[in-house]
Amino acid sequence: SYRYALFDMDGVIVDTAKYHYEAWRRLAEGLGFEFTMADNERLKGVSRMRSLEILLEVGNVKNLPSDRLEELCRMKNSWYIDYISKVDKREILKGTVETLTLLRRNGIKIALATASKNSQIILERLELKDLFDAIIDGNLVERPKPDPEVFLKAAEALGGNPDECVVFEDAYAGIEAAKKAGMYAVGIGDNSNLIGADMVIPGLCETDQILQLFN
Ligand code: BG6
Ligand code: MG
Repeated sequence: SYRYALFDMDGVIVDTAKYHYEAWRRLAEGLGFEFTMADNERLKGVSRMRSLEILLEVGNVKNLPSDRLEELCRMKNSWYIDYISKVDKREILKGTVETLTLLRRNGIKIALATASKNSQIILERLELKDLFDAIIDGNLVERPKPDPEVFLKAAEALGGNPDECVVFEDAYAGIEAAKKAGMYAVGIGDNSNLIGADMVIPGLCETDQILQLFN
């Protein structure tokens, strides 16, 4: 049975999508095109640089040199950091603290497994750090989701085998990564976006259903 729980961060434990969107929208505006909320769906779970590439595709901006791409990523991130440095516990998604606390009490080891390079600042603001036995974020992985690297590293950090791990993910790229890693994948959110998930639930507020997986 499952002994390890791996949680994505953005969209699973904290509602940061709106801040990512606000920063990307601002960048697009500066470049002279519109970036809609629907376009933003494509960026979920995707690394910062890959997100920029998708955004530029939407705006039909081509052939920027790599130092310009780096600069645009830095601009986006500095705005994003401005937004998230003001987040507080109210933005923790419902059920997160209860579910993680109960899992721990049942002897389940817990890791954060996120593409974000901003996990430290977010976990500190939300005072959630102590709930995790290991934190693997974008600073520690080379290949972004849908590559399974982040989840394999998280399992290794906890001392578990992939087939003992359950992944909680709100993005399609993350579900794909979890399945490639050989793990059980729980989709968080809407069924239609999460094809391939072993099970889909609306959120971590489904505490009983989640605990049952570990029985
Ligand atoms: C993912 C988010 O968790 O992290 C993406 O879903 C984001 O939207 C990615 O682009 C990278 O995050 P950051 O904080 O390093 O820019
Ligand atoms: Mg996510």
